[in-house]
Amino acid sequence: MSSRKLTVSDIVGMKGKEKIAALTAYDYTSAKFVDRAGMDLVLVGDSASMVIFGHDSTRYIGMDEMLMLTEVVARTVKRALVVADLPFMSVHLSKEKALENAFKLIRAGADAVKMEWFDGCLEKARAIVNAGIPLVGHIGFTPQLSDMWTWRRRRGVDEEGVEELLREAKGFEEAGAFSVVLEMVSVEGSKRITESLSIPTIGIGSGPYCDGQILVYHDVLGLYEDFKPKFAKRYLELATAITEALKEYVSDVKEGRFPSEEHSFHMKSERKE
Ligand code: KIV
Repeated sequence: MSSRKLTVSDIVGMKGKEKIAALTAYDYTSAKFVDRAGMDLVLVGDSASMVIFGHDSTRYIGMDEMLMLTEVVARTVKRALVVADLPFMSVHLSKEKALENAFKLIRAGADAVKMEWFDGCLEKARAIVNAGIPLVGHIGFTPQLSDMWTWRRRRGVDEEGVEELLREAKGFEEAGAFSVVLEMVSVEGSKRITESLSIPTIGIGSGPYCDGQILVYHDVLGLYEDFKPKFAKRYLELATAITEALKEYVSDVKEGRFPSEEHSFHMKSERKE
C-alpha cells in the first residue's frame, strides 16, 4: 500500500485482498504514532469520553469535544483515512441535525464519519451519504445504547441474533456506508456478515474473519486501567512504565538528584569552558 493519503476507495478496495489495520487516536501525539506505524484507518472514537475525559460511558462526550479532537488528529495524520465518531444524540433527533453534525466533523478535517446503529438510524445514514459524506456503520455492541441495555452486550450468539445483525449490516450497506464496524459479534456471526457484504467489515472483539481489525489506542498500549476488555491485546504495559518513571522523578526531586549539571545552564561568567 502506498505512502500517499489513503482514500475511501483504497479502504473498500482492500476487501478480500489485504486486511485493514485500524486504531483510535485522540491527539497530536497518538495520531502521529498511529500514522507512523502504518495504520490504514484512524478513528477519532467517542471512547475519548472514557480514555481522555474520564467518564464511565461514551454517552458523555458531545460534538464540541469531538470537533476539537478531530481537528488535531486530522491535521496530524498524513496517510491513514481519518474517521470521526458521531457522538450520542448528535444524529438521533432528526435527519437535518444528523447531516449538520456529520458536516461539522468533515469541516474539522475528518475524511468520513461513523454512526452507531439505533432504531431509525438508516434514514439519517442515507441523508449523510446522499450529501456526499462517507459513512461507516457500527453494529453489534453499540456502546452509546448498550450501556443502558446490558443484555445487548454480546450479539450474534444465536441464529436469530446473527440474522438481526445481518439485516442491520445490509441496511447500512444499502444506505451507502462504505464499511461496517462489528463490535463483540460471535466469530461465526461476523464471518457470515463479512461474506455477505460487498463492503469491508472492521471487527473489534469479533474474531479473525472480518476484513479489518480496530482497537482502542489506550488498550493496545496498556494505558487505560479502569477496564480491560477480553478482546483487547496489550502490546505494552505503559501505565506501569509511566507510573514507575514518574515515581523516579518524584524521588529525584525530593532527594536532590534532579536537576543535575546536565539539565542546568550557567551565567556566561560562571561557564567552565
Ligand atoms: O469509539 C471507539 O473507540 C469505537 C471502537 C469501535 C474502536 O467506536
